[in-house]
Amino acid sequence: MKGQEIREKFLRFFESKGHKILPSASLIPHNDPSILWTAAGMVPFKPYFTGAAKPEVLRVTTCQKCLRTPDIDSVGRTARHHTFFEMLGNFSFGDYFKKDAIPWAWEFVTEHLGLEAERLWITIYLDDDEAFEIWHKDVGVPENRIVRMGKDTNFWEIGVGPCGPCSEIYYDLGEERGCGLPDCAVGCDCDRYLEIWNLVFIQFFRDEEGNYTPLKNKGIDTGMGLERVASVLQNVKTNFDTDLFRDIMDFTGELTGKPYGTGAEYDLALKVIADHSRAVTFAVADGALPSNEGRGYVLRRLLRRAVRFGRVLGMEEPFLYRVAGAVIDKMGNAYPELVKNRELVTRVIKTEEERFGETLAQGTEIINRLIREARQSGKNYIDGEQAFRLYDTYGFPMELTREIAEENDLTVDEEGFTRAMEKQRERARSARQETEYLSEKTARLKNILEQVGETVFTGYDTLATKSKIRAIFVGDEQVDQAGAGQEVELILDITPCYAEAGGQVSDHARITAESTEVAVEEVTRPVEGLHLHRGRVLSGILRVNDEVEVQVDRRRRMNIARNHSATHLLHKSLKEVLGGHVNQAGSLVAPDRLRFDFTHYAAIEPDELARIEKMVNEAILSNLKVETFESTLDEARGMGAAALFEEKYGDRVRVVKMGDFSLELCGGTHVQSTSEVGMFKLLSESSVGSGLRRVEAVTGEGAMDYLRAKEEQLNLIAKTVKAAPHELVHRVETLVQELRELEKEAETLRAKLARYEVQSMLDRSRDIAGIKVLAARSGAADMDSLRAMLDLLWDKIGSGVIVLGAAVNGKVNLVAGVSKDLVAKGLHAGKLLKEIAPLVGGGGGGRPDMAQAGGKNPAGLEAALDKVYALVESAVI
Ligand code: ALA
Repeated sequence: MKGQEIREKFLRFFESKGHKILPSASLIPHNDPSILWTAAGMVPFKPYFTGAAKPEVLRVTTCQKCLRTPDIDSVGRTARHHTFFEMLGNFSFGDYFKKDAIPWAWEFVTEHLGLEAERLWITIYLDDDEAFEIWHKDVGVPENRIVRMGKDTNFWEIGVGPCGPCSEIYYDLGEERGCGLPDCAVGCDCDRYLEIWNLVFIQFFRDEEGNYTPLKNKGIDTGMGLERVASVLQNVKTNFDTDLFRDIMDFTGELTGKPYGTGAEYDLALKVIADHSRAVTFAVADGALPSNEGRGYVLRRLLRRAVRFGRVLGMEEPFLYRVAGAVIDKMGNAYPELVKNRELVTRVIKTEEERFGETLAQGTEIINRLIREARQSGKNYIDGEQAFRLYDTYGFPMELTREIAEENDLTVDEEGFTRAMEKQRERARSARQETEYLSEKTARLKNILEQVGETVFTGYDTLATKSKIRAIFVGDEQVDQAGAGQEVELILDITPCYAEAGGQVSDHARITAESTEVAVEEVTRPVEGLHLHRGRVLSGILRVNDEVEVQVDRRRRMNIARNHSATHLLHKSLKEVLGGHVNQAGSLVAPDRLRFDFTHYAAIEPDELARIEKMVNEAILSNLKVETFESTLDEARGMGAAALFEEKYGDRVRVVKMGDFSLELCGGTHVQSTSEVGMFKLLSESSVGSGLRRVEAVTGEGAMDYLRAKEEQLNLIAKTVKAAPHELVHRVETLVQELRELEKEAETLRAKLARYEVQSMLDRSRDIAGIKVLAARSGAADMDSLRAMLDLLWDKIGSGVIVLGAAVNGKVNLVAGVSKDLVAKGLHAGKLLKEIAPLVGGGGGGRPDMAQAGGKNPAGLEAALDKVYALVESAVI
């Protein structure tokens, strides 16, 4: 029974029991900061178990893609460890419980998979008599094959969320597969008893602190490992021998010329690559990108590990992206998202492989230097601090440093490495202490929030509000009043000022009362609900409880709003032009410009940029109405709103809608209709890390400023080349043409000049014991021209010794030549230069017939040239 058939059978079986078949959820958990990856079938359903959300149906069945990495080092070395695997499961959200779940599981494995009942064993949680009764009485499993086990094996939980005791089905692979020890039984570490299915009886909620509270509705969550079941049904020893892996391993085997079975070391590499390529392919298809943090880091580690095992198979060039192709071919049927994202997967993996290749090359170069240095100073180890730097700064794997060191009969100073690592940790710790100080301030502000209440924000609808001063701070101190010239932080009861958030910078404002005036330069929200206005008292005295007028700097606010609304239009246009994988990774919305970082794997082509810019401007010209409304996160997502990961489940969210073009969750301030943005101009596009791009743009006033600056530049150029702006292109073309002709002419003249120079140089030649010797100064501008001059002289002289020197910009170039007949007599151009170069403050040398040198002391050139005659003389007389 192939993997695909098992998937099908499972889902159809539970469909026949009233379950709805759902497609696998993404590997990237939705709104669950407690875990990095979807690591079990129940993860996408957590809110349904707890009642936080209402499911459409109460019974669901899935084949869920899962990723877990704690056992990464065992992958390939054992029969069953994986990072990526598939979990078949059936779920009840407060509907059926043990009484149905247990007999159905039995029915499926015995009747539909055809496993012999005599080979099946059951485990249950210690005191779960209910499960015991059902297994024994209803199903008919003999008492001696039902084993009670403790919390470590028979209680299931993942992060924060629903959990409960569980019952497992084991398959006995036979005595011959066992360890043979007298106490070998279910739960033994050996290969004999294989857990194939876990039935979890969801009853509790586990919170952040590890407390368990009973859930109102009990549920069922089961998980059957597809790879394991396949290994049983296909009667093979390891999961890697099932069709799920073999096709991929055979592909890699062929690619590398090391088919499965060639040798233990190669087989291990094939297995690791098969496992990791599955994980990487699925993760990237679900939108993960390699990076140095969190999920991206796990992905990077998997990918780099696979590449390193590729080297074992002789693959020095990128290859994993091709294995990913084989994964897509194998799994694309069951997971159409793979096929849809084939290009993305290929490009992301290939790019990362290339980058890693560079890291390895760069690191290897550094290591080689370290090895040389170690040898030179007579050490038999590589400095630990340097090894740490290599690891920390260049991402060069420490194992590799060790390996390379070993190949060179060196060790790595592990103590030094650990010390450097400790130092690094220490730095991180003091950075944390700073944060703790900040959190002290936060605690104080929270106190104040309790005293004065939340600041009411009116700035979505108005730019001016009457308000009351609730608290004044000067430095760290809370005061009753402040006077002209003082820097203050103020808390008001009502404010129209937008506090910096979501990339949008804060408003500026004036706070006034009779003769008092305060200029506000920054507004923050250090704790939820509290606006802190930082500014300077310009005149008068400000007291707590004063009635004041707050007026936002309207022009600045409008410029910010234009840039913010344009950012939404840009986000949408990027998705349209580049693809759905584009997601916001960061943004800055300032009055004079906007900056937007997003996920994308390659530089944006000029024609794509042009299309993006055009699309944004078309949306502006279409005068789309900008509407905002509140909604729940789920509803907003249902409408297709773009949202960041941070939004919390169940939150009320604010949605910003621009016609039918853009829909985004956003708390920022916007224009009322897109035409107010005026105009959008992209300024730049660049990379800000692997898989991350950045664009910068201007709108409205900023765009006008930009255009004006461009125009001024153009006018200035026009003035410089003496042409009207509209004639500029023609004029510049003519100038370039003229320049080319002049250059040609200059070239001819230079050649002529050189010939004259040659003639006058020849006059300096002397005859020393029948040898023509010429040492002369030349006007040649660089080494190439100097050598050309030497060739010209050979034409005239034929046999002899020639040394030429030229002083250019405070530096000296020297060339020397000795004709073949004289080389035969022992004259040597290289040695000659070696003797005279020190006189011009330099060094150099070369072959017997031709050599060159450089120096820094033009004052010594004359003496150096003079010395040539003497040297030749002493050599031949
Ligand atoms: N959630 C259970 C597991 O992953 C079924 O084993």
